[in-house]
Amino acid sequence: MSESSDCIVFRDAAVRRGDRIIWQHGSFAIPTGSVTAIVGTNGTGKTTMMKAELGLLPLAAGSLTVLGRPAGERNAQIGYVPQSYTSDIDSNLTAEQSVLLGLTGTRFGIHLVTKAQKAKVREAMEFTGIADKAKYRLSELSGGLRQRVAIAQALVCDPKLLMLDEPLANLDLASQRAAVHVLAKLNRELGMTIQVVAHDLNMLLPILTGAVYLLDGHPHYADMGKVLDSDLLTHLYGTQVQVVTTPQGDMFVTPTPDEPLDQVQDMHSAAEVAQMHHHSHDSAVSAPGAGKAGAR
Ligand SMILES: Nc1ncnc2c1ncn2[C@@H]1O[C@H](COP(=O)(O)OP(=O)(O)OP(=O)(O)O)[C@@H](O)[C@H]1O
Ligand SMILES: [Mg+2]
Repeated sequence: MSESSDCIVFRDAAVRRGDRIIWQHGSFAIPTGSVTAIVGTNGTGKTTMMKAELGLLPLAAGSLTVLGRPAGERNAQIGYVPQSYTSDIDSNLTAEQSVLLGLTGTRFGIHLVTKAQKAKVREAMEFTGIADKAKYRLSELSGGLRQRVAIAQALVCDPKLLMLDEPLANLDLASQRAAVHVLAKLNRELGMTIQVVAHDLNMLLPILTGAVYLLDGHPHYADMGKVLDSDLLTHLYGTQVQVVTTPQGDMFVTPTPDEPLDQVQDMHSAAEVAQMHHHSHDSAVSAPGAGKAGAR
């Protein structure tokens, strides 16, 4: 396999759940080494997109390539933290056992844990700052600490691509910051490509290189500068927002202050937004090398 500059490539991809098309005409490429947010309101198909990328949901049309192969074939090189992680897990496991699952893949049977595996687990837990919690049962840990266990479990197998579905939801500010710091380190020091579903972009803004936004039943990809457009974000969130840059150069996405409730609805028609962002459903996927992350 040749190393491609694109980690994930959608070509006119569509997904159906039940008898409903969730999104369609997805044609874009996510660069290797990028940190990408997936944004969109509830039910627009963000989790669905991650499942399609893992090959867990078949496409209704088009193609989807991940790490150079059809979706699903390279899952061993992908770390995934699902949205419902904290409610799904067996909370009798210790943090250490839970992270080990990321290596052994199963909780059944007796495993002889090798020294090398133990060292990997320890390393991953140190990376996410929970090494001192190794012997705690998950039921004894706070939501934020469990989230870090989940991230450690996803990265213990040295993935090339890390996918996290709303990892910051339910975390307090300090824990959000800590999680973002971990993601920044993984991206910067290990060159990991990262994809994060998020509703609030603010915490992630310093590390994001681009975003996939789900709008009007179509996924689009844009570099960060283009996503941070008040008009687009207002349409995307269905409520009036503005992008504010502080004198220090930090950017924030904020609700517009004192907006009367009846004016909060969509400000732009789909056609207007389409024009603003030149989206065209049959547009070719960017050529390898185009829009490469790391340029910023
Ligand atoms: N198992 C399923 N069978 C049929 N339809 C489903 C199933 N799971 C989800 N859907 C539908 O697919 C659509 C997209 O769901 P998805 O979970 O991907 O949304 P999401 O963008 O992740 O939302 P949220 O922000 O609430 O997590 C929703 O309309 C949902 O009703
Ligand atoms: Mg979801």
